[in-house]
Amino acid sequence: MLYIGIDLGTSACKLLLVDEAGQVQNTVTKEYPLSFPRPGWSEQDPAHWWNAALEGIPALLEGFEAGQVQGIGCGGQMHGLVALDERDNVLRPAILWNDGRTAKEVDYLNETVGRDKLSSYTANIAFAGFTAPKLLWMRENEPALFAKIEKIMLPKDYLVYRLTGVHATDYSDASGMLLLDVAHKCWSKEMCDICGVTENQLAKLYESWEPVGTLLPDVSKALGLPESVVVCAGAGDNAAAAVGTGTVGQGGCNISLGTSGTIFISSGKFGVDPTNALHAFAHADGGYHLMGCMLSAASCNKWWQDEVIGATDYKGEEAAILPEKLGNNRVYFLPYLMGERSPINDTNARGAFLGMTMDTTRADMLQAVLEGVAFAIRDSFEVARSLGVRIPRSNICGGGSKSVLWKKMVANVLGIPLDTVATEQGPGYGGAVLAMVATGLFPTVQAACAALVSVAGTVEPDPELTARYEARYRQFQKIYPACKSLFPQIQ
Ligand code: XUL
Repeated sequence: MLYIGIDLGTSACKLLLVDEAGQVQNTVTKEYPLSFPRPGWSEQDPAHWWNAALEGIPALLEGFEAGQVQGIGCGGQMHGLVALDERDNVLRPAILWNDGRTAKEVDYLNETVGRDKLSSYTANIAFAGFTAPKLLWMRENEPALFAKIEKIMLPKDYLVYRLTGVHATDYSDASGMLLLDVAHKCWSKEMCDICGVTENQLAKLYESWEPVGTLLPDVSKALGLPESVVVCAGAGDNAAAAVGTGTVGQGGCNISLGTSGTIFISSGKFGVDPTNALHAFAHADGGYHLMGCMLSAASCNKWWQDEVIGATDYKGEEAAILPEKLGNNRVYFLPYLMGERSPINDTNARGAFLGMTMDTTRADMLQAVLEGVAFAIRDSFEVARSLGVRIPRSNICGGGSKSVLWKKMVANVLGIPLDTVATEQGPGYGGAVLAMVATGLFPTVQAACAALVSVAGTVEPDPELTARYEARYRQFQKIYPACKSLFPQIQ
């Protein structure tokens, strides 16, 4: 039996074919463009996602028996606003999770409606990337389009809709809309009223592993799959990645070094960060999680290597960072290339280098970029610690975790061991696991993870290096507060 896991990412859609023993049999990646129509804006055409699935699934099945496929599960980039009219036409390009256009709406929500009210309605406050402020933005700036909205959905829900014709979402992804009452797992009437939308426009809510439907007849033909293939609700990409690394139940932690950087702390119980710096969301295993999300993580490395130095060999660039330099770099980097979400919630924040001298090298600059991301993850880690959350170790996944050096930096900046799992494939693997549960191969997500996920390697922190990084982190912590008031002035 086979299962398809889909990671609907920001720069590409990665598809996995997984067998019932959890072995990845094939992978296909379809890249698509991301557009930045104005500084701080970030959009994507949902047609790219659908085309990626239409082309990617048949390619994934080449050489395999399509009749063996039982289910499809999707983990998708979170928070994006996809709006459809009454004929199911996409009304405008999706406004993505890393779009910063809604500063005014975020202020209105947090200051006028008030953080306390938002937190009591949804367990969260407003952040620029969340869906609710985008709806307010659309109502204000594109009223004619806003009036035509028939269905509101998240990116992976658009794929599920095209596959099955069912307007569905799951609790983990819906948590990031600021429209869900996370504690009670239902849409918040208050938030719908504030945003000028009705529950009819929102999707039906499911647990991530619940089947929402089977393939539409023409879709089954186009994909070469039986109509009986079950599609489950899926999850936000971070919850799906957490499932993929076995970060389920009480007290697990997963760090993802993808385009965004996240620290994801799973919990059996609902809990809110009283400072609202960390998101309090539902998990794809039926429980909950706290999450810190930085908007630019592996994308800082990509930006530096591709756009700035024009590197052709990432590994070669990294090799120039000498071991004795770790914890001793005098150059610092603030990784706020798209503004920042957790924990500072500042759309005006920008990237910055500090501390260069005439002897600073290209390798020092790259090291500062990689360390800046690690320090920013530590910022969210510190918030979790301040809430009394114990994080003795963590899983790590995502493109950035392929770098042994970067993993070592993160392990030492946090001072904890980092585990990598054998089947590390990001959110797509979690999607496949959810599909296995949806089709009855496993009774629960926890049982599936226990059977399928195992640790393949661990990076242990080195006490001496951790101490050096501790001193560096103390310096790093002073930089953003010193620059904060400058950022709005230099826009
Ligand atoms: C999480 C977040 C990002 C996106 C990236 O809150 O915004 O991790 O999900 O795809």
